[in-house]
Amino acid sequence: MENRKNGLFISFEGIDGCGKTTQIELLKKYLDEKKYETIVTLEPGGCEIGKNLREILLFHKGYVSDIAEMFLYLADRAQHIQEIVLKNINEGRIVLCDRCIDSTVAYQGYGRKGNIEQINLLNKIATNGIEPDLTIVFDVDIETAQKRIGNTKDRMEKEGIEFHKRVREGYLELAKKYPKRIKVINSNQEIEKVFSDLKSIIDEII
Ligand code: TMP
Repeated sequence: MENRKNGLFISFEGIDGCGKTTQIELLKKYLDEKKYETIVTLEPGGCEIGKNLREILLFHKGYVSDIAEMFLYLADRAQHIQEIVLKNINEGRIVLCDRCIDSTVAYQGYGRKGNIEQINLLNKIATNGIEPDLTIVFDVDIETAQKRIGNTKDRMEKEGIEFHKRVREGYLELAKKYPKRIKVINSNQEIEKVFSDLKSIIDEII
């Protein structure tokens, strides 16, 4: 199924408030300085269609069913992989993607208690078999994450502590299941220490 060449596809994962967006920015700067061609993108919302889907997913006021939510994330992914990720990999860039397939397993699977086998299959359909070459999970305890989020919360961030605990467990399980692809970084540490851990992993693969 897979159809790609050249570049590198790295995804960044973790519960809300794990600090991944800051780390992605630092990494982009680091790679740019080393003269790599990079692009930062995100799910949901990394392409035009996705921006509309992100608005619904994070800010819709009324009821959203669990299954509808899952399909909206998958629809965003299907478009984003084709329009942005694949294109940039094939043009030789390093694609730094804020969330991807593992978010759906962690949030809709572990968080919402959805059927993980089904999600794996639907992820494969949505991505046409494209997987990140490397996935970094920024692991942080729930209390620290909640403090970082603050009081202005989106629809997903408003989910309770138990939900986020399950999501975190989900990520740790995924890392155990796919130790070659998924690396966990302790994100309770200072920003500089987290970034130094991130650099060591990245330096090994570039
Ligand atoms: P973020 O871009 O600020 O990380 O927010 C995206 C939110 O959407 C975050 O709460 C995680 C959630 N999410 C899912 O529940 N499933 C998914 O497949 C993806 C990509 C994100």
